Amino acid sequence: MKLCVLTISDRSSRGEREDSSGPALIAMIEECGWVLSEYAVLPDEQDQIEDWLRSRCDSAAVDVILTTGGTGFSPRDCTPEATRRVSERLAPGLAEAMRSYSLKKTPHAMLSRAVCAIRGSTLMINLPGSPRAAAENFAVVMPVLEHAVELLQASPAAEEGHTFHKPDPSA
Ligand code: MTE
Repeated sequence: MKLCVLTISDRSSRGEREDSSGPALIAMIEECGWVLSEYAVLPDEQDQIEDWLRSRCDSAAVDVILTTGGTGFSPRDCTPEATRRVSERLAPGLAEAMRSYSLKKTPHAMLSRAVCAIRGSTLMINLPGSPRAAAENFAVVMPVLEHAVELLQASPAAEEGHTFHKPDPSA
């Protein structure tokens, strides 16, 4: 399974703050033996985010795109809007599961506007911006990702699917 990580942060894109959420997600991807295709940092600019997401989805070279940041209520937060604009189909169950789990950790989970969506055969997953929150949310959906990708690719293995990969959302 090939994944991209996109950190969305004005300050990190300007080099004013080191990105630690992207590297935290990359470490989790590598622990699972999945392949990191690309890692990038962009500012909270909706057009730029849309272009980046659209080109990666349309290349068909990536199965899952993780975004981190820009999902809250700040005026510049536009990650969910960009994701919805390039989306062909929404995958609300993933976002519901992440918020449901996160609400047990903090009421601030209500402030996440994250969406998960599909374009072509690529799944896009919005995660919050802090390294801990990004990792906590990613851990919730990790167990179903391989099956999700099999289904998106209409792989025969999907018929046998319904198995879970590293089901450890308590991390
Ligand atoms: N989810 C978990 N598991 N843990 C957290 O600490 N923080 C929340 C929420 N989701 C949080 C979480 C907060 S404070 C906000 S504002 C939203 O995610 C959106 O975060 P973002 O604006 O950094 O994307």
